[in-house]
Formats: sequence, C-alpha cells, structure tokens
Amino acid sequence: MGFNNFCSALAYFLVGLILIAFGTCEGGFTSNYVRRNDLSLDMPLDSDVFRAPPGYNAPQQVHLTQGDHEGRAVIVSWITPDEPGSNAVIYWAANSKLKKSVHGIVLTYKYYNYTSGYIHHCTIKNLEYDTKYYYVVRSGNTKRQFWFTTPSKPNPNTPYTFGLIGDLGQTYDSNRTLTHYEMNPVKGQTLLFVGDLSYADNYPFHDNTRWDTWGRFIERNAGYQPWIWTAGNHELDFVPDIGETKPFKPYTHRFFVPYQASGSTSPLWYSIKRASAYIIVMSSYSAYGKYTPQYKWLISELPKVNRTETPWLIVLMHSPMYSSYVHHFMEGETMRVMYESWFVEYKVDVVFAGHVHAYERSERVSNIAYNIVNGLCSPVKDHSAPVYITIGDGGNQEGLATEMTQPQPSYSAYREASFGHGTFDIKNRTHAYFSWHRNQDGFSVEADSLWFHNRYWKSMEEQSVAVS
Ligand SMILES: [Fe+2]
Repeated sequence: MGFNNFCSALAYFLVGLILIAFGTCEGGFTSNYVRRNDLSLDMPLDSDVFRAPPGYNAPQQVHLTQGDHEGRAVIVSWITPDEPGSNAVIYWAANSKLKKSVHGIVLTYKYYNYTSGYIHHCTIKNLEYDTKYYYVVRSGNTKRQFWFTTPSKPNPNTPYTFGLIGDLGQTYDSNRTLTHYEMNPVKGQTLLFVGDLSYADNYPFHDNTRWDTWGRFIERNAGYQPWIWTAGNHELDFVPDIGETKPFKPYTHRFFVPYQASGSTSPLWYSIKRASAYIIVMSSYSAYGKYTPQYKWLISELPKVNRTETPWLIVLMHSPMYSSYVHHFMEGETMRVMYESWFVEYKVDVVFAGHVHAYERSERVSNIAYNIVNGLCSPVKDHSAPVYITIGDGGNQEGLATEMTQPQPSYSAYREASFGHGTFDIKNRTHAYFSWHRNQDGFSVEADSLWFHNRYWKSMEEQSVAVS
C-alpha cells in the first residue's frame, strides 16, 4: 500500500470510528465537554455579594417583577431588617422631572426560630410603555436608587430578549452564572426564572438567613429588570416536624407575582403578556389533576392567548416533561400526560424547565397519540409541538446531574451537564433565536443555539400556501 493509499485508509478508518461513536445513539448530540465534577460550595456569609447596603435599616434585597397582565405595572419588593421604615417608592420617568410616589404593604413571617425582616411589596401602576424609569426606596435618611425599563405595549413585531436561569442557589458557580448573564452581549431585558431559588432548605431547619443572602445576591440584577418567578421544590419549605406546615411560606412572602390579573387563584400559577410574548407559569408542586384549580385555570387560559397580539407562547415550569438524565427521570411524566396535548393543540413555542441540574434541548416531539389499544406510546416528531428546554444549570450546591440515560433518546437533540444560562431573543413575530451559554466559555460564546420559527405563524403560512 502506497503512502497516499495508507493515508486514505486511515482517514476512512477514523471516519468510521466517529460514525460508530455517534451512530450508536438514537438521538441527537451528547456533548463530551469535560468539566469539574466536584460539588459547588455556597459562598460564605461574609462574601461581598451578600453584603448589606450601608446605613441603619437600609433597604436591601430589592427586586422587581411584572405587576399586571399587560406590562404597565411593576412590583418593587425590598426588605428593611430592623424596622418597617417607609412603605413608599418614589419614581419618575427618565425624560421627566415629575416625581410620583406610591405606597405598598409591609409584612413579616416566622419560620421555626427565624423571624424575617420587614418585607415590602409596592406595585407601581399605569406606567408608560417602553420607558425608562428611576425609582428610590428609602428608610430614614438612607435612600437607594435603581431603574427599570418598561416593555412596549403587547405587539406582535416587537423584538424582546428574555434571559433564562434555573436552580441558581448561591455558590461560586451561581455567581459565575449570574455574571455571565449580565456580561452576555445579548442583553436580557427580563429574566425568566424556572424555579429553585436560594436552596436555603438545604441548611438545618431551612435556615432562612440564606433566603436573605440570596435576596442580596440577586439584587444587582433583579433590582433593575423583572425576574418572572416559577416555584420549584426548593420553595416548598414544608417541614411538619418543626411545625412548618404551610407550603411555600418563605417564597410566597418574599416574591409577589401578579396572579390575580390573569384570573388565577394562586401565586404559583399565572400568566403575563410582555411585549411580543405570552408567558404561562405552571406549578409542578401544586395539584394539577383534573378539576384542580390549576387545571381549571389552564384550560380557560390557553384559549385566551391572542397570537396576533403576542405571537410567542412560552410556558415555564420547574420539573421538565422531557428529560433524558438519570436524576429526576420521568418526574414530570404525570404533568406531561395531563397537559402535553394542550401544548400541542395551542401551538406552544417553547417550554422551559429546570430541576435537572444540566442543559438539554429536545426535538419538536409529542407523545399524545396513545389510546388504550393502539400501542402508540413513544414520542414522535410533531411540528405543532413545543421545543422542551431544561435549563436547571444555574450552579447550586447540589452539583451537576452528569449521569444520562443511554442511548440518547430520539427526542433529545442536545444535552450537556455544564452550568450556564440561556437567552431567548425574539426578533419579530416569526423568528426568535435561542442560545445557551456555558460558564466556562467567554461571555459571547454560544454552546448551543436554535432558530425558532413561531408555531402559530408558521402554520398560518402553511395554510395560506395550501389555499393559494
Ligand atoms: Fe428542583
């Protein structure tokens, strides 16, 4: 064999090896990215990211979320540690000198041997769309100033960029994730948080001082852009042994959401419109079977979504419906059985979940054809189905879920156990660009990405082509 022939044979052999390596998978791509596998440690209490602002009783843990259904209101929340202080938020548009003031409510709660500070929630209503506002919270002589920008009026062609973080916790890796989100050149305007916030419940008696450190940690971002909340299992804080029998007590006291504006009876499931998106938040840890309040709300909610006003239909939940990791495998299965067919019927564009501490993106599949005799109980390609994205890789102290089911199932398009965050960048009513960023890379590097073609408008185009 001549040298050239030998080189060709070697090349074919290597290509063959590669094909065998990938060909044994039924599904998509499993990243072979090499990562540290030691557990992440929570940052110590005296870390700079947890530092309380200076001044007696200074407002801390300032965070924002949307305050109505349409995007013209903001809920400002903060905590004063020593006494109630002022309930008021002073705010003004950046292009105006006219300052306004609105008063909110203050509450406290006890959890075992912990007593919270004074938790303030203040809703600023009737804001102008697409406007930058400054706001001030104060206690005595201590004032703290922040800002936010309202979205445009719900409109089908408004570009808008959402960030995505889940299962964040408060470790050094959590800090890297938040920093990468902040430094990403694709600037997120609102963060969609898919549950499991502080991981305070991993401390003895669910030490709620770790809820406070988490509130101070996220303030640097959540004080300036809304974080849209989804509850996860680490928000349950249900411990009858120590007398804590009210599920979600710390979470629901600290994080208000505008649930009544969407006709919900619980802050654990609700919806908002924001620019060109309609966002439905579900609760994996509340009853969702037939006739439950969540079921009844969702069945009346989905037909209300007007895709000519808000083309992008996004669902958030904590436990994923499709995940091929070993940890938490099929925990979302009962919710999938209940609701997947609705998501296909109403052409949901994307379902974001957390819970599994890794990243995974699905193909557009559905598994809804089964009846008691037909045996059709495997996921199949379905162009009306959403893409399911697991983004529970915020970086909490429990570490990564590295063990994956083998072979990679056909519904799984890409999976990788690395910490990171995502962005969902809506360009117009038909196109959006999703990208996932792992923490080990530079701020602008995309480890995985996908162009989204809007499900509703895509089917409209197909119908018009068929008719013409
Ligand atoms: Fe979880």
